[in-house]
Amino acid sequence: MHPALCHLVAALGCAGLAAAQSPDSAAVSWVGDAPDLNLGATFGLPWPRGKYPANSTSFTATDSNGGQVDVQSWITAYWPDGSVKWTGHAVGASNAVGTGYTVSPVVGYSQRFRRRQDASSMVAETGSEIVVNTGKISAVFKKSGNTIISSIKTASGKTVGTDGVLVLLAQSAIAEEDAAGEQPAKSQLNSVIEDVAVSKDNSVRTLVTIKGKHEPISGDGPGWLPFTVRFYLYKNSEAIKVLHTLTYDGTASQNFIVGIGIRFDVPLSDELYNRHIRLSSADGGLLNEAVKGITGLRRDPGQAVRTAQYEGKATPDTSTWDTRVTTRLQWIPNWNDYSLTQLSPDGFTLKKRTKAGQSWVKIPGGTKAGGLVYLGGAAGGGLGVGHRDFWKRYPTGIDIRNAASDVGQITLWLHSPAAGPMDLRPFHDGLGQDTYAKQLDALEITYEDYEGGYNTPTGIARTNELYIFGFDSTPSQEALGGLNAYVNEPPVLFVEPSRIKESGALGTYWGLPSNSTTGAAQDIEKHMDFLVRYYIGQVEQRRWYGFWDHGDIMHTYDVDRHQWRYDIGGYAWDNSELSPDIFFWNYFLRTGRADVYRLAEAQVRHGGDVDVYHLGNFTGLGTRHGVDHWSDSAKQIRISTTIYRRVFYYISGGDERTGDLVAEVQKAEQAFVAVDARRKIRDPSVVYVPDPEALYISLGLDWVSLAGAWLIEWERRGPNAEAAQRKLLKGFEGIAALKNGFVTGEALYNSSSGAISAPPTDPDNKGIVVVSHLDAVFGLQEVLTQVFDHVGQGTPSENPKLPAGFLEAWLDYCYYYSAGKPEQAARYGKDFGSVSLIQGHSKLTAYAAWKTGNATLASRAWKEFFGSDGLKRDGSGATNWTTVRVEGSKVLTPVDEASWLSTNDMALYGVNAIENLFFVGQALGST
Ligand SMILES: *[C@@H]1O[C@H](CO)[C@@H](O)[C@H](O)[C@H]1NC(C)=O
Ligand SMILES: *[C@@H]1O[C@H](CO)[C@@H](O)[C@H](O)[C@H]1NC(C)=O
Ligand SMILES: *[C@@H]1O[C@H](CO)[C@@H](O)[C@H](O)[C@H]1NC(C)=O
Ligand SMILES: *[C@@H]1O[C@H](CO)[C@@H](O)[C@H](O)[C@H]1NC(C)=O
Ligand SMILES: *[C@@H]1O[C@H](CO)[C@@H](O)[C@H](O)[C@H]1NC(C)=O
Ligand SMILES: *[C@@H]1O[C@H](CO)[C@@H](O)[C@H](O)[C@H]1NC(C)=O
Repeated sequence: MHPALCHLVAALGCAGLAAAQSPDSAAVSWVGDAPDLNLGATFGLPWPRGKYPANSTSFTATDSNGGQVDVQSWITAYWPDGSVKWTGHAVGASNAVGTGYTVSPVVGYSQRFRRRQDASSMVAETGSEIVVNTGKISAVFKKSGNTIISSIKTASGKTVGTDGVLVLLAQSAIAEEDAAGEQPAKSQLNSVIEDVAVSKDNSVRTLVTIKGKHEPISGDGPGWLPFTVRFYLYKNSEAIKVLHTLTYDGTASQNFIVGIGIRFDVPLSDELYNRHIRLSSADGGLLNEAVKGITGLRRDPGQAVRTAQYEGKATPDTSTWDTRVTTRLQWIPNWNDYSLTQLSPDGFTLKKRTKAGQSWVKIPGGTKAGGLVYLGGAAGGGLGVGHRDFWKRYPTGIDIRNAASDVGQITLWLHSPAAGPMDLRPFHDGLGQDTYAKQLDALEITYEDYEGGYNTPTGIARTNELYIFGFDSTPSQEALGGLNAYVNEPPVLFVEPSRIKESGALGTYWGLPSNSTTGAAQDIEKHMDFLVRYYIGQVEQRRWYGFWDHGDIMHTYDVDRHQWRYDIGGYAWDNSELSPDIFFWNYFLRTGRADVYRLAEAQVRHGGDVDVYHLGNFTGLGTRHGVDHWSDSAKQIRISTTIYRRVFYYISGGDERTGDLVAEVQKAEQAFVAVDARRKIRDPSVVYVPDPEALYISLGLDWVSLAGAWLIEWERRGPNAEAAQRKLLKGFEGIAALKNGFVTGEALYNSSSGAISAPPTDPDNKGIVVVSHLDAVFGLQEVLTQVFDHVGQGTPSENPKLPAGFLEAWLDYCYYYSAGKPEQAARYGKDFGSVSLIQGHSKLTAYAAWKTGNATLASRAWKEFFGSDGLKRDGSGATNWTTVRVEGSKVLTPVDEASWLSTNDMALYGVNAIENLFFVGQALGST
């Protein structure tokens, strides 16, 4: 059908008619195997520059059978010419799960089409509440008070959950666990709502965002621990997805979190023998119990009765039971309370009791709990709550209370009180490092960059993902097993990699996997595969799990102990050092592999929340690698940089939490006033002036990370878009005007105007040579080239344009970094000294070769990639590229070891391999 026709048809209701598929129709399919369930999904799609005007394009969608489906669409990024760059799309739940969807752009904006969408809104709003009804579940959100979700009803109108509230247990001191005497008093705090917002378009997906903090139930004392809880509800879905973000705003020595949870009341009306409890294990196993068990008794109520209870079905009428049971039901204990506790990734324990004051009875446990709990009745229905990555986020827990009363409770502990207080204090006392000289000397031995006061968790955050389900009756074991899988691996829709690549909307520096039969390209593909598999395996073998830790990897290996250096200063948690994130995401983009997606997704959540500050003086900065994610004193924007989250942001359809982070990173320019990143190593003759209009910052590490955030802000037309675009282009102009461009290293940045000017070490801009091996390994190339792709180059009509001289300045840096001292000196009057990370910079040489069409330079790039530092190809003196099994008493548990591998090397190899294959892949055969 012609697009123009379709939009008319759409306006009339299009139902039953297949949508028009233009050549630009975009297909998305499930990452990995098609899931068993589709409870609604959001995904992102890229569009080429100039094709689809933002003000007159709408979208239709079909499922994999060609049937039209409702799709809610929004724009997440615009090209400068006003055309659509990225869109987000939501599809509702479906009974059948196909292989994916096809989205077709329709040019020709229709108000009637828009109105039709509005008419099917799932939301009804009053002054005090927001009611969302998906058709399968409805929820009431209050606009003030303590309950973040006040009621949950099934489609048939049964209320299965009420009074959803966030709970916090806290204490203001910490005692040695084995000490006698009094323990610090605990206080209980509840959520208090400060702000509630609901999405505007609610035809297929509604988003309710609740912000607030935790306040003492007693009413005295200040609130703390601010939260943002996002509820996502999809049309026809029985699930509510919850994204729960907390920011730690306490003082580590005074404000101890003991438990963080979310609690629901569950109305219960069934007979006690028709009330069911279900708790899952990670592989879909279930604990199947009833409040009053009628199996295993001395007298048998009858097979039909026992089977019904076990399966969660209403038991036959008691008149049909053996009367030797019915006359004695009162002697059978009622199990009122259940607790599941996962204090480590290696085991969970279970117990139950008849009531408070009576002892607990142990229930056989298991290794990895699934984090899904159900409480309810065969007739009255019930509530299910699931916590994604439950065991990976240990210490976690699930409590069921009062199951034998009229109102039971489910508490899902994101941090279990059974684990004792969460201790965020520094892991050492400073060891007397009270001067920069001592700190720098200590750096020489543990590689930790310590400074008192900087090792603070105040301002870090964590996001957890939960799912709420309402049931009209106790679901089958099979159904709960399916939901358990869903909760732990929520299905993801992803467009064909080639489409992203061709759109140019996510970097023109990666290509699809090489099909080359030449040895070198094949080796590189094999080696990248080795690297991602190795890290996926190490996550499990080394237990890189925990409330704060899940998603991170370690920095360096200790060959002697056969152990990653988890306890040694700057060698422990990686905090994205040298950009493994870019490798993982680019590798995912080109392959679409599910295992890689899950690795990168866990990392994106960890890095953006835990390794970054969200409030206080460090807002927008991240922390360098260390034993705690926040322990190192190097607070830098190179770690919070949005280039690590850019792929996820756009392919997820604009994940709102990630969107928050983009706004925060832009605030880092205020943090630059308080923190001089290079304070310990400055030439004493250069004084850092905390002048917001003359900040002395690094172009490669600091400025470019701001630039990456500005690019997204500009693309997405965020609230700061105008300033973001202006500052970005102003900075480009300023760098182009520096005598030595990027070789200047550091320059003055005016945070009011965005202007870059010559550094205090070269006030007259005569040209200074300051080159750091770190400048180009935190996303410099990737941010710059994405800005180039965005602004366009060359054609007179393109506006805005890349400022004159900027590309040349960048190409010079790319060419000269590894060109050798004589060429550097000839160009700049001075060489760069000993540069390192040559393999890690081969992508710059490759870029220059590609951009200038210089074949000699292309071979130089491969020589730098293969023949320098870093990981090498097979052959003599080369990297081994295998693992060795270490077991027995040499290690605590058997491990596969690649003692030759450090995470820096992994990251540099992967990032450069992908970019080199793209830029100069054709030159590989001749190397
Ligand atoms: C859409 O935007 C373009 C370019 O900004 C403008 O020329 C055109 O008039 C707009 N069309 C509508 C329907 O608003
Ligand atoms: C490699 O082969 C696959 C399968 O034929 C194809 O889809 C892909 O586009 C090829 N990759 C490149 C880089 O040509
Ligand atoms: C934040 O920075 C200001 C100015 O540098 C300083 O006075 C203040 O003590 C800092 N606050 C904290 C909590 O470190
Ligand atoms: C910084 O930019 C602002 C706004 O353009 C300007 O008024 C101010 O003079 C600049 N500051 C310096 C130190 O150049
Ligand atoms: C191409 O690169 C080589 C160095 O690899 C350099 O010597 C030569 O001048 C470059 N050619 C051009 C045309 O820039
Ligand atoms: C790689 O290391 C393993 C284990 O040490 C060894 O058996 C193997 O021969 C090595 N391979 C090469 C190519 O050196």
